[in-house]
Amino acid sequence: MSRTIKSIVTMLLGMVLALSLGACSAERGGEAPAGGDEGGDSASEPAAASDALIGIAMPTKSLERWSRDGSHLEEKLQEMGYRTSLQYADNKVEQQISQIQNMINEGPEVLVVASIDGSALGPVLDQAAAKGVKVIAYDRLIRDTESVDYYATFDNYRVGQLQGEYIATALDLENNEGPFTFEPFAGSPDDNNARYFFAGAWDQLGDYVDSGVLNVVSGKAPASVDQWQSIGIQAWMAPAAQSEMENRINSFYRGTKVQAVLAPNDALALGIAQALEANGYEVGDDWPVITGQDADQANVRNILAGKQAMTVWKDTRALGDEVAVMVDQIVKGEEVDVNDTETYDNGTKVVPSYLLDPVVITKDNVEEKLVDSGYYKAADLGL
Ligand code: BGC
Repeated sequence: MSRTIKSIVTMLLGMVLALSLGACSAERGGEAPAGGDEGGDSASEPAAASDALIGIAMPTKSLERWSRDGSHLEEKLQEMGYRTSLQYADNKVEQQISQIQNMINEGPEVLVVASIDGSALGPVLDQAAAKGVKVIAYDRLIRDTESVDYYATFDNYRVGQLQGEYIATALDLENNEGPFTFEPFAGSPDDNNARYFFAGAWDQLGDYVDSGVLNVVSGKAPASVDQWQSIGIQAWMAPAAQSEMENRINSFYRGTKVQAVLAPNDALALGIAQALEANGYEVGDDWPVITGQDADQANVRNILAGKQAMTVWKDTRALGDEVAVMVDQIVKGEEVDVNDTETYDNGTKVVPSYLLDPVVITKDNVEEKLVDSGYYKAADLGL
C-alpha cells in the first residue's frame, strides 16, 4: 500500500469512529452539561426513553385506589419502554422518605410522588433536584419546596363541590327550611387535597349551616373553611371515621337521626356506614345521604345497596395516562402538558399543574361509567 492510500484509509477509519461516537452520545440525549461530571450522575443527562428509570412513590397499598394508581402507571410506563421502580410506604412518612432516597441513588430521570405528608418531602426532594431529577407530584401537592416541577391531579376543589352540590340537591336545600340534621367530616390534616375537598363542599353547604337549614347536632362544624383540620380524620382511616361517627351518634343523636353526612372519600364513607349500621340505621327512610370519593369497589357495592348515595370517581387510568405523557415529555426535553398555572401554590411557588375532571357516580350510572368503561367487571359489583 502506498503512503497516500494508507493515510486515506487511516483518515476514513478515523471519520467512521468519530461518527459512531457521535451517534452514541446523541442516543444518550446529546451534549454533556457544561463542566458536568461525566461518570456518576446519570440523571443530569437526559437518557433515551428506553433506558430511563422512573421512580414511583405511592402512599399505601391498603387503599384500593393507590394500588390501582401504582400498577396502572407502572404498566403504562413500561409499555413506553421505561424501567420503573414502584414503592408503597404503608402510610409511613419516614418510610416514604427513605424509599425516595433509595430511588434517587438508583439514578432516575423522573420521580412521580404521591405524598403521605405533603410538607415533609422538601429535604429529600432537594437532593433529587441537585442531581437534576425532575419531580411530578401525583394526585397530592408537595408543599413548601422549590423541588417539585409539576403537579398532576383531578380538580380537588371540584371534587368537594360535587359532594356539596349533591347533598344540597338531594335535600333540596334551596326550597326547604329544614332543619336537616347533618354531620361533616374532613380528610387527613396532613393531606393538602383534603383542604380543597372541604373548601369545595363548604362553599356549597356552609351558608345552610350558618342559617340553620343544616343543623350540625354534634357542633362539629368548623368555624370557617380554614379550620377544616379540626374535623380531619388522620391518615383517612376508616376505623377512625367509624369511631368518630359512633361517638357523635351516641353523644348527640339520642332520639333523633342524622339525615346527611359529608364524607370526603370512600374510606371514611365505609366507616361511617358501619357506625350507622351498628346503631340500628336501616337502608330506606332511615339511612342518611352519604357522599364519597374514589369509586372503591366496596363503596360502589354500597351505592347499589342504598348505603351510600354517591361517590366522586377519579379514573386513575386517565391520571396515569396523563402522567406517563408528562414523564415522556420531560425525558425527551419537550414542552410538558399543563392546563393550570395559577391554582396550586405550594407555599414556595405556584406549581404548573394538569387537572382532570372528576365524575359523579350514583346507582343510575354505575353500569354506564364504571362497567362499560372496563373499570370494573359487572361481576365485581355483583351485577
Ligand atoms: C386522594 C383521594 C383519597 C385520599 C385517601 C387523597 O389525597 O385524592 O382520592 O381518597 O387521599 O387516600
